Amino acid sequence: MRHSLRFIIPLAVSLFLIAYAVVPLVENLTLKWFIRDLDIRSSLVANTIQDKVLELAEGRSKTKLLAYLNRIIEDERLYALGFCDRTQKQLISTKTFPAKITCDALEDYMKPETHLLVSDSGPLHITVRQVKPNGASVGELIVVHDMSFIQRRSEETKKYLFYFFVALGVIVALITMIIAEISWRGWIRGMRTLLRVQGLDKSTEKPPSPELRPIARDLDTLIRDLRGDFGTRDESQISWTPEALRDILHRDLRGEDVIVVSNREPYIHTKRGDTIEVRRPASGLVTALEPVARACSGTWIAHGSGSADRLAVDAHDRVAVPPDNPSYRIRRVWLSAEQESGYYYGFANEGLWPLCHIAHVRPVFRTKDWNHYKEVNQKFAQAVIEEAGTPDPIVLVQDYHFALLPRLIRERLPEATVITFWHIPWPNPETFSICPWRAELLDGLLGSRILGFHTQFHCNNFLDTVDRILEARVDREMFSVTYGGKTTAVHRYPISIEWPPAEALTRKPVADCRTNIRARHNLPADAMVGVGVDRLDYTKGIVERFLAVESLLELQPQWIGKFSFVQIAAPSRSVIGQYQEFEVHVRGLASRINNRFAKDDYLPIILLVEHHEPEQVAEYYRGCDLCYVSSLHDGMNLVAKEFVASREDEQGVLILSQFTGAARELPEALVVNPYDIDQSATALHAALIMPQTEQRDRMRLMRALIREFNVYRWAGRMLLDAAGMRVRGRLADRKT
Ligand code: G6P
Repeated sequence: MRHSLRFIIPLAVSLFLIAYAVVPLVENLTLKWFIRDLDIRSSLVANTIQDKVLELAEGRSKTKLLAYLNRIIEDERLYALGFCDRTQKQLISTKTFPAKITCDALEDYMKPETHLLVSDSGPLHITVRQVKPNGASVGELIVVHDMSFIQRRSEETKKYLFYFFVALGVIVALITMIIAEISWRGWIRGMRTLLRVQGLDKSTEKPPSPELRPIARDLDTLIRDLRGDFGTRDESQISWTPEALRDILHRDLRGEDVIVVSNREPYIHTKRGDTIEVRRPASGLVTALEPVARACSGTWIAHGSGSADRLAVDAHDRVAVPPDNPSYRIRRVWLSAEQESGYYYGFANEGLWPLCHIAHVRPVFRTKDWNHYKEVNQKFAQAVIEEAGTPDPIVLVQDYHFALLPRLIRERLPEATVITFWHIPWPNPETFSICPWRAELLDGLLGSRILGFHTQFHCNNFLDTVDRILEARVDREMFSVTYGGKTTAVHRYPISIEWPPAEALTRKPVADCRTNIRARHNLPADAMVGVGVDRLDYTKGIVERFLAVESLLELQPQWIGKFSFVQIAAPSRSVIGQYQEFEVHVRGLASRINNRFAKDDYLPIILLVEHHEPEQVAEYYRGCDLCYVSSLHDGMNLVAKEFVASREDEQGVLILSQFTGAARELPEALVVNPYDIDQSATALHAALIMPQTEQRDRMRLMRALIREFNVYRWAGRMLLDAAGMRVRGRLADRKT
């Protein structure tokens, strides 16, 4: 019906316009015909009666002549008759004869064209004929016709024409509607078939209908062009928001299920006395993925590691989060103590973590841990199968805990789109070869359609590693690996944070944050404060950071008593021996430096080894003068980006290790080599004396970068690439 209206409305308008133009035309034409008829009729009347009139006029019988004339005008349309008798010089006329016409003024009515006169009783038609019995004129006969019948007829004609056009309109509309409906259905059916043939729908094998065949090739080109245009438009032209991400999911990936898999869960329920608390873990992965999960409203499968996690879930081990405004769900996977110890602490964090980070900690590989790692990856694969509502979900596999998972998912859900993101660095082939199960790990990862790293350098390392270890085709032009007949794209997707920044990051005014953190640690109101925020991990360069503070106080003693460094260190993986030793080392170093510079109650290093919620961390970001990120090796490091995002006052200085992925994106930070203690101390000094205008200029550039490349863009790019690969795959299937 809607499609038919598209035809009927223009049709009705056209008919109305035609009627509007035709009716006056018809009216004009009929008037002309009627006048011509009256001309002929008048001549006929004049010719017929002129002899009798002459006879009666010559007989001088005016009464008889008048009676004769009156008898003639009994005709309905003959309105009046008159005779101008030139011999007697008198006008003999019927009573109805218009007074305006006199014998002296007949000249005007004798011209060949028609003469009309408007009298009180309506329009009149006048004809004057000379009466010439012997060639000489003896008078004029005046015939007057009533024209009001023409008006009546014209009204009737108009009415008739109106009904005619309405009837015509209805008939044509009905016919059009039926034809339009039939052709529209046929066209749509044809287009559907054609699009299926173009690879957009695999559900049918029928070729396009014969009438659409000629345009099939053009349509194919058009679809490709549009796709091409869209592909180039998306990156730079999309305004990257949660809505943009949802839009990609619905439009480009047809609203498919999104399943995130990570070891660490975004919300942890823990018991505190009789109450249950919800905590946000210290994890860059969670910081980045949580806003994406909120936007995509899918399922996040993770290890249920909190002491009250089992109490919070439903019968299917699911819980809706965020607790205050649920928009997605966590599906918790339970691990035995042995599994957690072997898979998480053992293989993932004593093996792969030091293997991938250049932090000079030797990786430990145990067969027992590897077996648990395989077992837990299987367990998570089973959870993915259970949570997938369709045969082709989008599964976002996160990090080094799940190197085997992509292959396991692909084996059981061949249509699934598995996108794996490796959040930590990828080492060079020599280093990776240390791992006894190197080939199995690579085989597992190559079950992904897309494998992402933060930097190009890590992508290169991965391709080199595959080249060295597997029998696979490595394409350095396209950055992909073809292994076992399937291709995995290996691309760089630098991760980011949400923008506009999370409310928790900017809620408290900067002035209050400055006052609060100084008051909390008994620092003078004008004390300069530096901040470090990390998990207590040996890759973070916390030891080197403290040594840099010590060196600053040595080289620039004017800062003693005036500058303190607050280190927030979230306890992490404390079951592992290396982490325990590291904590002891960090605590010892802090007290040594504090003792060295102690003066009254001045502490150069304030070490807070405890968990802080995002709001508490934000207070330190906003209240400090500088933030020092000194990782010895880091995939990205989102503390750097969070600090910048929290400073809408455009003040504060970021000192950033050159060994973080973030250093490639934020060159306006003071970039240092954290191993070079004196260089780092100099950077600390430069930050402390940096003019406010320079702080603002640097901050502005860094904020602009994060604004433009936020985490929605990070996820959106991977999803768009996945959508493109799906379409290309279908087209390739068609070809073969
Ligand atoms: C790194 C890893 C993440 C991990 C986070 C916290 O950022 O890439 O996968 O979640 O550290 O570590 P944790 O072991 O506490 O989850």
